[in-house]
Amino acid sequence: MNKEKKQVIYLDRNESQYGPALACFEVLKVDNFKNLSEYSRDFSRGVKSALSERLANDFGVPEKNILLGYGGEDILKQAVHCYINKGDKIMIPSYSWWYYKKIADEKEGVKIEYPIVEGEDSFYYDIDGMLKIYEKEKPKLVLISSPNNPTGNRLEIDDLKMVLRKIKDAVVIIDEAYTLFYNKDNSHLKDMINEFPNVLIIRTFSKYYGLAGIRIGFVLMGDNHAEFSLFSARYLGYNRLSEQIAIAALDSSDYYDEMRDKMVADTEAYIKDFNQMEGFKAYKTYANFILVKIPVAIKDDLKKYLTERNMIVKFMAEDGLFNHLRITIGTQEQNRLLLNMIKSFLTKTITNELVH
Ligand SMILES: Cc1ncc(COP(=O)(O)O)c(C=O)c1O
Repeated sequence: MNKEKKQVIYLDRNESQYGPALACFEVLKVDNFKNLSEYSRDFSRGVKSALSERLANDFGVPEKNILLGYGGEDILKQAVHCYINKGDKIMIPSYSWWYYKKIADEKEGVKIEYPIVEGEDSFYYDIDGMLKIYEKEKPKLVLISSPNNPTGNRLEIDDLKMVLRKIKDAVVIIDEAYTLFYNKDNSHLKDMINEFPNVLIIRTFSKYYGLAGIRIGFVLMGDNHAEFSLFSARYLGYNRLSEQIAIAALDSSDYYDEMRDKMVADTEAYIKDFNQMEGFKAYKTYANFILVKIPVAIKDDLKKYLTERNMIVKFMAEDGLFNHLRITIGTQEQNRLLLNMIKSFLTKTITNELVH
């Protein structure tokens, strides 16, 4: 019997299929055990850590305006747990990462959804609708995701600033977990935290840098977040190895630029391929995943077919996105493999229908 186990391809959680830069692996050859056995002493230089210091330099902001966390997930949870108490209102995009609602529920916050709507070839934020709801509800916290998961759309920086000029009295979290795939320019970060003291901009090393396993995210904060800084402060520092790996990634921009260019070109081609298939519709994206609407009749059978072939994509099951797949952009080979599997499935289904 052939005991060789076929590798499962996971295209369901938007992890990088290219992996991190080579320099990140070099860090793992630890030649000084003190990096493992001792806490860092970065605080003696008046900073939280080597990584927060590096990020502050890269973005041209004071180090005190940066906090690290155990991934974007951790920072989102910390922020919501810090600011939301039972009965406080929290605005969340209608289609968004399920986790936002979960952390609001953990604190018994009152969730107010605001609209992301389907357009011709992409989803978009209904800015007027959002601002009307803000004025009416006066929430304590507003969550914005750009690019948004799972719809893939983003708010352009000018629109974002226009929105922030109107939302002065709430904490605003902007989740930019996926931003680097279509945006090389970080200059808005400094402007935004200078102009908007209420803002928290969350980023992660998990997606673009291919480092989901090291669990590092960070947040750039406007000046109104002394309470959150205290809430989040870690006296004994952070994971030194993870920090060094993250710094190695920041030093490897050539590798990531090349990956980005490849992925953007592949994504455009992929969307075209899906849109040529009858009954399928793929939406424009600014992230490393695409949302694809499929004929509802094939959903269960397609899921079974792909799973049996060790191909895992995300079959959405939420209101309004019930007939949709969210597919992580993989390598060219993986993208082709998935597309061919779906085509084979369709051919098989049509043939069966003709026979029976
Ligand atoms: C929109 C969004 N924000 C944040 C995260 C958190 O990622 P991490 O905790 O790995 O930084 C994810 C992960 O899938 C995500 O989809």
